[in-house]
Amino acid sequence: MNLKQDFPLLQNSKITYLDSGATSQKPLQVIHAVQEFYEKHNANPHRGAYALSMEATEIYENTRQKIAHFINSKHTEEIIFSKNATEALNLLAYSYGMENLKNGDEIVLSIMEHHSNLVPWQKVSRVTGASLKYMYSNSDFEISDDEIETKITDQTKIVGITHVSNVLGTINNVKKIIKHAHKKGAMVIVDASQSIPHMKIDVQDFDCDFLVFSGHKMLAPLGIGVLYGKREILNQMNPFLMGGDMIEYVYEQETTFAPLPNKFEAGTQNVEGVIGLGAAIDYIEKIGYDKIQEIEKELVSYARQELSKLDYLTLYLTPNEENHSGVISFNIKGVHPHDVASILDSQNVCVRSGNHCAQPLMRFLGIDSTCRASFYFYNNTEDIDHLVSALEKAYEMFRKYITK
Ligand code: ALA
Repeated sequence: MNLKQDFPLLQNSKITYLDSGATSQKPLQVIHAVQEFYEKHNANPHRGAYALSMEATEIYENTRQKIAHFINSKHTEEIIFSKNATEALNLLAYSYGMENLKNGDEIVLSIMEHHSNLVPWQKVSRVTGASLKYMYSNSDFEISDDEIETKITDQTKIVGITHVSNVLGTINNVKKIIKHAHKKGAMVIVDASQSIPHMKIDVQDFDCDFLVFSGHKMLAPLGIGVLYGKREILNQMNPFLMGGDMIEYVYEQETTFAPLPNKFEAGTQNVEGVIGLGAAIDYIEKIGYDKIQEIEKELVSYARQELSKLDYLTLYLTPNEENHSGVISFNIKGVHPHDVASILDSQNVCVRSGNHCAQPLMRFLGIDSTCRASFYFYNNTEDIDHLVSALEKAYEMFRKYITK
């Protein structure tokens, strides 16, 4: 099955795209769905009493239902559209963290968090007096059960955990974290941005209180994200942004707010993003997560095997392959990752280099940055071979400058 044929950018260029952790390529089905919306249904949902606007409302709300079904949330109004995972996490920090935490409380994050699930909590900590603690990874680049049980205590009120690390590819044991946190009375926020493109997410099975993800890493357009929250908790929270359809009644001095989910959707929404996300979900469901997992497991396994043969590389990956999703960070010893990525680019291989918005993790690992190859189901073993031969070229170029 040549899955690349649905992806015009991959078809029309010579590149080997290994940066799906940053954003995925988009299939024709998603591109067409967005185009069709503008050609046939474009109007502002929830704003007009005329048929076209009602049609747009129906498409928008049907997609919400589709997402609820996709992640198995109990109620459709538990799905809130946001700009991206970052905005959803900021919403939680402001509307939940700022209002519920106090001096003496603890926020526990993993050291693997993306800045988006870390910097907002620093602000909450500064304003409320709650302290910020970290669960660190062990030498296998995993968070041990012992670390979970030691760090999440009776004082913990919020736990933030990324399901899959965007740097290491480690799949964290979120079910264990959630179970333990709930025993201690803490709420858990799961950042599923790097997991939902690759594996089935079931929020009821997780029993997480909140879960966020961005659409653009799972085939949808840029600029659309989702916040899932348990209805009873979302109902208790105040709005984050004000204006537009999140309003019920406005008086000169006060305002009442719309019920869920509108309460958290201020202003005109990214409707084309929502439509595109719906089409992306259809596409993923058509292939099926079982197939996606089968393809990606083979890719990860092959990449681990081939990259391990290059003794000039330092690899940052868990030895437990079953805990490893399609992200591999590496460095050529003694060469800056930006230089390596530039040479790979000259060989038409796209990887990300830098700190990957995870500076505390980098510092914990004792490095500034890495190169990162990240895969999706449209990649194949030939792409890994291109990566390896581009790395060989890069090493050939740099080896004389590398000081032992
Ligand atoms: N968060 C995205 C990444 O890890 C952009 O590359």
